[in-house]
Amino acid sequence: MSKIYLGTNLKMFKGYQETLEYIKRVNEITQNISSDIQVFVIPSFLTISEAIEKTQQKNCWIGSQNMASIAEGAYTGEISPKQLKEIGVTINELGHSERRQFFGETDQELAKKVKASVDFKMRPLLCVGENALEKDSNASSATVLRQLQIGLAKLTVEELKNVMIAYEPVWAIGENGVPAEPTYVEEIHQVMRDCLMTLAGEIGQEIPLLYGGSVNLANYQELLSKKNVDGLFIGRTAWEIEKFKEIILFANKNYV
Ligand code: 13P
Repeated sequence: MSKIYLGTNLKMFKGYQETLEYIKRVNEITQNISSDIQVFVIPSFLTISEAIEKTQQKNCWIGSQNMASIAEGAYTGEISPKQLKEIGVTINELGHSERRQFFGETDQELAKKVKASVDFKMRPLLCVGENALEKDSNASSATVLRQLQIGLAKLTVEELKNVMIAYEPVWAIGENGVPAEPTYVEEIHQVMRDCLMTLAGEIGQEIPLLYGGSVNLANYQELLSKKNVDGLFIGRTAWEIEKFKEIILFANKNYV
């Protein structure tokens, strides 16, 4: 049985104290779970340092929501991989659709960030996913494959071992999102798996593929039951700690 990854992206929600309180609760929940369940929380940059200090368990990682691709330099307002590594960040969320949509991040730029994350011995969590127009035009697989292939292009086969992927169709994310059907998710995850195996052989089999986009208490069990779904990347549902707890404890009971 391979690991199950359960993470949450706090986006620009929760204040400083609220985030630390939330992380304290996540710590309590993860205290007695199997090392086969890997939980992670990705809060705003402001709280990362203190969140890491307060996080004792190896099975709860703290990550960043973005990162510059360059170690240091005159890039006002950016946060570098070197700085994130220094404070103990484990995982870098890269290319979330909100970054692509509102901040113009391109596949080419993301490829550099992915490489920088690996170079600084962190784990890139590359987010991919088609928008509604691409889905309606039957271009979902083509879009996701392009994002994957360009996003990972700078890595050697050996380096691909460190990568994690989150499939987050844009139309499924957030308040107006429609959760993707688990069978549809599995279809796209199979396409991604085939691509990763072409790129990296057997290593491609080991790269965790997470699903995100309106994961809720009604659909998480079926999503987790799919062969190529190695975890979930959750927004709103996980921000309510009792709901995140239910998902974590379910996985701990059924997948270890
Ligand atoms: P929701 O679960 O709120 O749709 O958000 C998913 C997401 O964007 C995680 O990165």
